[in-house]
Amino acid sequence: MRIDIITVLPEMIEPFIQESILGRAQKKGLAEIHVHNLRDYTTDKHRRVDDYPFGGAAGMLIQCQPLDACITALKAERHYDEIIFTAPDGEKFDQPMANELSLQENIIIICGHYKGIDYRIREHLITREVSIGDYVLTGGELAAAVMADSIVRVIPGVIGDVESALSDSFQDNLLEPPVYTRPAAYHPISNPNETWAVPDILLSGHEAKIKEWEYEKALERTKALRPDLLKD
Ligand code: ADE
Repeated sequence: MRIDIITVLPEMIEPFIQESILGRAQKKGLAEIHVHNLRDYTTDKHRRVDDYPFGGAAGMLIQCQPLDACITALKAERHYDEIIFTAPDGEKFDQPMANELSLQENIIIICGHYKGIDYRIREHLITREVSIGDYVLTGGELAAAVMADSIVRVIPGVIGDVESALSDSFQDNLLEPPVYTRPAAYHPISNPNETWAVPDILLSGHEAKIKEWEYEKALERTKALRPDLLKD
């Protein structure tokens, strides 16, 4: 799939998308992420993309012209399944939305900035408005990075172990069970006489019993920490 991100701060997103799993996914040809500097699309000779809001409200708004020019240029190249605007008043981003978006061919994510964007862009060009949580960020760049990361990591082949993206917390409305690595018996620095032991069942080699234990623990943690996930 292809994700086009439109921003006034490309330098904030570019290093992030080249790193780690996102970077590798692109090298493997499983995803393409392109970052566009909104200022490259303005007709303003000073490269300004914002102006004061009509009606005297505080703050600055991104103008229609550069956004329209950038979106129109991208749409002339290919069809987009979604044109997303990141905004704190949007639909809440979650795992099902990440899964759903990962199945699309091409999406655009527009990062909001200043006090927002001219509402006419939201009315006429945007197909979906998405928030990553009930708090206000200084811009949509972090939201776009969060979305791109969680969308790309569920594309088959992106994470080495096929099972691991599907067994994540939230994929089945359950948090993950506790996980442990070597040593099986750890003596903490603060008290070397004490032993922090890995549950015996995980060392038993009994696959069916381990699965059952993991499910019980996942359920127990979900009930304790996120009972809202079990409602449906
Ligand atoms: N822009 C500012 N705050 C945001 C949020 N919570 N989610 C998405 N975009 C935003």
